[in-house]
Amino acid sequence: MLLDTYGRIATDLRVSLTDRCNLRCTYCMPEEGLQWLAKPDLLTDDEIVRLIRIAVTDLGVTEVRFTGGEPLLRPGLVGIVERCAALEPRPRMSLTTNGIGLKRTAAALRAAGLDRVNVSLDTLRPEVFKTLTRRDRHHDVLDGMAAARDAGLTPVKVNAVLMPGLNEDEAPDLLAWAMEEGYELRFIEQMPLDAQHGWKRDGMITAGDILESLRTRFTLTPEGDGERGSAPAERWVVDGGPHTVGVIASVTRPFCRACDRTRLTADGQIRTCLFATEETDLRAALRADAPSPASDAAVAELWKKAMWGKKAGSGLDDPSFLQPDRPMSAIGG
Ligand code: GTP
Ligand code: 5AD
Ligand code: SF4
Repeated sequence: MLLDTYGRIATDLRVSLTDRCNLRCTYCMPEEGLQWLAKPDLLTDDEIVRLIRIAVTDLGVTEVRFTGGEPLLRPGLVGIVERCAALEPRPRMSLTTNGIGLKRTAAALRAAGLDRVNVSLDTLRPEVFKTLTRRDRHHDVLDGMAAARDAGLTPVKVNAVLMPGLNEDEAPDLLAWAMEEGYELRFIEQMPLDAQHGWKRDGMITAGDILESLRTRFTLTPEGDGERGSAPAERWVVDGGPHTVGVIASVTRPFCRACDRTRLTADGQIRTCLFATEETDLRAALRADAPSPASDAAVAELWKKAMWGKKAGSGLDDPSFLQPDRPMSAIGG
């Protein structure tokens, strides 16, 4: 079990398969991209499957999410999913993607055992998409989502980040569209995880702003008892149901107290939190040749030890908060 000193148990593993991406979202990375990890530094498919097996069979992980960068850029993705689907107990598996290429791969991913996908889409306007992501691929994303829905990778969740002066007025339109298409929309507060370190709390669109904007067109009531447990999204029932909308208020209403996550970067580092300042190097343990590569039990012990050091929260509200040196695309979104 992956327990920390605050009594939280991590059962949800987020695995970054690559730090590369085919978009350049302004809240994530600069136009020129980043200094990508070198191929030998990436975990191999076998190493990834081995670590997921240890997490699932020895450490109590029940949910595995593949992220990036853009995980569809990883050539071995379908094979990794297939091998993880054969694990006992079988983990639930999902993918967070920008949707480009999903049209081509959705059916194969479903057949391999993937359960569902979350797709990022911030705007319904192709021109705004181009400004925001610096690529003219709006259509590919919409096609990818539809393919995922048709392949049964459901519920398809849509993640939208609102940026001042770009798409901040689009919340109601996005919701109307998502309901029509049968997607579950969630808005995400922008977090200080961009490679350029350009995030400013003052300029950010908050959960409060988003709800206010949605309420100009819809009636929202909290779903259930209003408790979200470990899910980052708080959900609201729209116009009496059946559709819902989520808001992931990582900045203004953090959910750290209920966090059940552990993360593995594409280069084999365990991070206990998106905002962690330290990493635990599992790749070195897997590859060490002296005295010998680590056994499954030794890897599991390292992982447990890492999680025991998990901090109480993101520290975003501390005056001494420092943005992690790795951007979100390298940590795993
Ligand atoms: P599901 O609702 O189960 O599909 O998962 P999810 O919402 O965690 O998945 P997704 O990958 O779509 O993540 C959406 C957003 O949640 C991310 O962009 C982050 O903004 C936020 N998020 C994910 N993990 C963490 C985390 O560990 N800490 C914080 N603060 N935010 C997170
Ligand atoms: N703040 C909030 N969300 C972000 N994402 C990427 N960078 C940021 C950021 N700085 C979103 C993506 C994707 C999800 C994994 O994270 O749009 O939907
Ligand atoms: Fe790529 Fe996601 Fe970053 Fe956009 S937010 S550039 S889709 S990794």
